[in-house]
Amino acid sequence: MTQEKTMPEIITVLSGKGGTGKTLMAANLGVRLAADGKKVLIIDGNFQSRGVDMALDMESRVIYDMVDVLRGDCRIRQALTKHHQYKNLSILEPPIFRKGGGIRMVEFETLLERVQEGFDYVIIDTSSSSTEVCVQMGLLSDRCMLVTTQDPVSVRAGQSLLAALKEKGMEPEKCRLLVNGVRLKLADEGYLMDVEDIADAFGIPVCGVIPYDENMHVAFSNGYPVADLEDSEAGAHLSRVFRRFLLTE
Ligand SMILES: Nc1ncnc2c1ncn2[C@@H]1O[C@H](COP(=O)(O)OP(=O)(O)O)[C@@H](O)[C@H]1O
Ligand SMILES: [Mg+2]
Repeated sequence: MTQEKTMPEIITVLSGKGGTGKTLMAANLGVRLAADGKKVLIIDGNFQSRGVDMALDMESRVIYDMVDVLRGDCRIRQALTKHHQYKNLSILEPPIFRKGGGIRMVEFETLLERVQEGFDYVIIDTSSSSTEVCVQMGLLSDRCMLVTTQDPVSVRAGQSLLAALKEKGMEPEKCRLLVNGVRLKLADEGYLMDVEDIADAFGIPVCGVIPYDENMHVAFSNGYPVADLEDSEAGAHLSRVFRRFLLTE
């Protein structure tokens, strides 16, 4: 009797502009799911400046990277680095310094195919530097988390990324919007966009509105994910948002 392969749900975290909180969300979503007993892999799709390892305080643990796998210098499982606390959370990183001429999208797809078996979730963190690459990574996934801030430039860039995704065949139902770093006072004063206007501009359901929170910034900078801290306000809030994101069909 042949056993059914377990294939994961693939989630891509995207934004039109950098610095919106993608890596923070990818790392925290991974931790939340791992804390709930799921087998999770976060793939760092930011080939220019990887950050998932730092977000999870794992820099010193990563030995092999994607290029080592592609060159045949290690087996793919050796390039998966396990988190020190959440044993069912692993990460796969690109090299810190460009080596081997970079990673092409077709190679990334091959890695994804080879690595995904046995995980419940694969989360792809992306870089906003290339819309084309973002779109391709988005199309590889079952659902997308589109992150924006209230900054009009971030909203406009996000809208154009969503348009590019749709143009390439992405079903908009697979995308959920997360408005991050929200500062209500500045929106009231007219310096930032209102969350309602942002939701209208994107036209996709909002899975969460996360306030700007210094504690979250400090935690992220120290490689400490807050999503498992249910007794912290930020952790509880993130957990609720992720549950809503995951529940959506
Ligand atoms: N809700 C938030 N409150 C405070 N700081 C945040 C929040 N979300 C993200 N940040 C900070 O914003 C910066 C960019 O986050 P990051 O996840 O690296 O963005 P991206 O991956 O989209 O470039 C980081 O310094 C992070 O700590
Ligand atoms: Mg990032």
